[in-house]
Amino acid sequence: MKIFLDTANLDEIRKYNDMGLLDGITTNPSLLAKEGGDPHEAMEEITRIIKGDVSLEVVSTDYDGMMKEGKKLREYGDHVVVKCPMTGEGLRACKSLSEQGIPVNVTLVFSPNQALLAAKAGAKYVSPFIGRLDDIGHTGMDLIKEIKQIFTNYNFNTQILVASVRHPQHVIDAAKTGADVVTLPPAVLGKMLGHALTDKGLKAFLADWEKLQADNSNKT
Ligand code: E4P
Repeated sequence: MKIFLDTANLDEIRKYNDMGLLDGITTNPSLLAKEGGDPHEAMEEITRIIKGDVSLEVVSTDYDGMMKEGKKLREYGDHVVVKCPMTGEGLRACKSLSEQGIPVNVTLVFSPNQALLAAKAGAKYVSPFIGRLDDIGHTGMDLIKEIKQIFTNYNFNTQILVASVRHPQHVIDAAKTGADVVTLPPAVLGKMLGHALTDKGLKAFLADWEKLQADNSNKT
């Protein structure tokens, strides 16, 4: 399963990229707004740091606008994936961009039928938002299981990119379901890294080593 980071924060991107953990990045207008500054500079810098797929979202809602923006975003690099919303106009843009060799991530997917239609329109990725479904009392992971079954039944090449991930258990469940990608907020990736027993064990190893050094220096 591929791991993408769901952020526009350059420090977090560099930090986890330096650990070799990142296969790509997803951003959206809200994530860029959270960082402030010039979003175009930020998007360009992200595409410089990351060599894997970088999803950059259009903000137009009409076909012509999405096409124009999508092509402009691709000027940042051949690894840019254009993120289009799950609307009729978005699917139209998805079809045209895909036919022109520009990969598309269809975002804001909340039902198996939406995922099916995005795959039919040629999307490289569909992004089901599981956390937002959990927030309204549904079980977001059920959506991933349904999409997985549909895509497997009909051999769709479209990849399931699990989005709106809230905690490490989502990642384990997505991996068990066979999702292609998870996109993680930095905080979730940070939680996956750590364990109280790792910290406790390391502290004990270091304390024992210090004690051994002290014992040896007392002998000399
Ligand atoms: C995915 O591409 C989106 O950027 C993101 O996962 C949305 O997550 P949220 O529901 O935490 O805003």
